[in-house]
Amino acid sequence: MLSASEEPVNKKRKMSSSDPERRKTTMLPVDVTKLGTFGTRSQGSDLLDDLEITLDAKAYDAQHIIAAAVQLRISDVPVAFPTETVYGLGADATRSEAVKGIYSAKGRPSDNPLIVHFSSLGQLRKVLRPDYNESDTNDPIPAIYHPLIRRFWPGPLTIILPNPSDSPLAPEVTAGLSTFGARIPRHPLALALISLSGRPIAAPSANASTKPSPTAAEHVAHDLDEKIDMIIDGGPCDVGVESTVVDGLSSPPVVLRPGGVGIEELRKCEGWKDVRVGYEDAAEKSGTPRAPGMKYRHYSPKARVVLFEAGSRLPGGEEIVGHCQQNNRIGLIRTKTWDFNANDEMTPIRRAAAQAVAHTNGHHETSSGFAGMLQTLHKQHERLLTTSHKISTSAGDVAVLDIALGRNVADIARGVFAALRELDLAGVDAILVEGIDESDNSVAAAVMNRLRKAAEVHVGG
Ligand code: TXA
Ligand code: MG
Repeated sequence: MLSASEEPVNKKRKMSSSDPERRKTTMLPVDVTKLGTFGTRSQGSDLLDDLEITLDAKAYDAQHIIAAAVQLRISDVPVAFPTETVYGLGADATRSEAVKGIYSAKGRPSDNPLIVHFSSLGQLRKVLRPDYNESDTNDPIPAIYHPLIRRFWPGPLTIILPNPSDSPLAPEVTAGLSTFGARIPRHPLALALISLSGRPIAAPSANASTKPSPTAAEHVAHDLDEKIDMIIDGGPCDVGVESTVVDGLSSPPVVLRPGGVGIEELRKCEGWKDVRVGYEDAAEKSGTPRAPGMKYRHYSPKARVVLFEAGSRLPGGEEIVGHCQQNNRIGLIRTKTWDFNANDEMTPIRRAAAQAVAHTNGHHETSSGFAGMLQTLHKQHERLLTTSHKISTSAGDVAVLDIALGRNVADIARGVFAALRELDLAGVDAILVEGIDESDNSVAAAVMNRLRKAAEVHVGG
C-alpha cells in the first residue's frame, strides 16, 4: 500500500521543473474512525439536519483532510476523494481556473457539465440565492425536490437546479447550461472535506475520461498519476455506481441517469409517481455487434467487453476461446446465475485476492439523514476474488480469469467497475459479462446502463 509522502505512486516518475504537467501524486490514507467526532444538529423542521464534525487535529488522518481542504482553497490542481458512489475529482466550484483543472486532468470534453457537492442545505441555498439567510421563509430549493431530499440526502442522488444569474458558480461548471446538478454525498470524508474547505465542490468521477469509474484510490492512481497532487484514500466505495441524476424542473420529472437510487424508490415520493426515464438504453441494446470506435466510449476498459443480457446462458469453452485475440486470456464476470462448476471444460488453477470491495452486510439505513449515515460508518472490507482456469485447445491453452460478483444487486453494483479494471490489468483480450435483470427498476438499471455503454458487443436481450 502506498502511503503519504513515502512512496510516489509511479516509481518511474521523473520530475523536472521544465515539465510542469507532470506532478508528484501522493496518496493520503484517511481512516474515518480516527478523524474525530461526527454528530448531527437539529434544524427544527428543515428537510435535513446539519452535520457537525470535530476533527482530532493531532491525528494524521485529520491532517491529511486539512491539507486537502487547503489545496482546494488555494490550488488550481484538483483533489481526488472518496464518495459513497465512486471517487470524485474535486475543485472549488466558484473558481474558473480550479474547475478547468478538472477538465484537463481527466481529459474531459468541456461540454459535459459537472456535479456540485455540498455538505449542508444552507451552503446549497446560498448558491441558489446568494443573499439567502437562515430566516428566509421562502426556500430557494424548489418544492418538488423536498420529498427527495428528506428521503435520499445525504446520498447517491443528484438534483438539477436553476443556476441564478448572479450565481457564484464558475461558468465552466455548468458548461453553458442554465442549470446545475447538486448533491450532498453520504461519505464522511467527502463531507468533512467539503465542510472544511467552505466551498461548493465540483466533482466528476475521478477516472480518465472514457475509463470505468474509480471505486478505490488505486483506480484513481492508475488513471491520474502525475496529473494531480493528492488522492485521499478512504478505501473502496460502498455503492459502486454513480448517483442517480433527476430533473424535477420539467413536468413530469425525468431521470437523466440511473444510479444509486432506484427509479422505483423515487416513484414512492410525493410528486414523483410519474417520473419518466430520460436516458436512452435502447440503442445500446440493439443486439448486433458493432465495430470498435463506432460509439462514444464510456466506462470502457482496454479489453473488448461482451455483455450477455440477463437470461443468457454461460458460454461454453469453445465460445469463450472464440473471443481470444493475441493474449489467449479471457475475463469472465459472473453475477446471478452463471455457475462455473457447470462448465467442466475448464480446470481451476489459481485463486487470487484482487480489489478490496466495501461490504456492509447488505445494510439498509435504519434512519434517514446524517444520523443514518453515522450508523453505518464502520464498514467491513471484502476482497474480489479472481479465479484462474485453463481451457486446453488444439491451438494451445487459454486462460480464463473469473470474477464472481455475487447474486445480490448491491454487491454487483459495488464490484462491477473494479472487476472491469482488474481484468483489464491482467491483460485479457475480452471480458464476458453476465448481465442482470433490471425490470424492478432498482440499482440494477444503473449497472446495466454502465455495462451497455462499456460493451462493444451484446448477446441476447
Ligand atoms: O456519484 C456521482 O454522481 C459522482 C460522484 C463523484 O459524486 N460524480 C459523477 O460525476 O458521476 P460525472 O461528472 O461523472 O457525471 C455527471 C453527470 C453527467 O451525466 C452530466 O451530464 C450530468 O451529471 N449533469 C451535470 N450537470 C447537469 C445539468 N445541469 N443538466 C443535466 N445533466 C447534468
Ligand atoms: Mg463519470
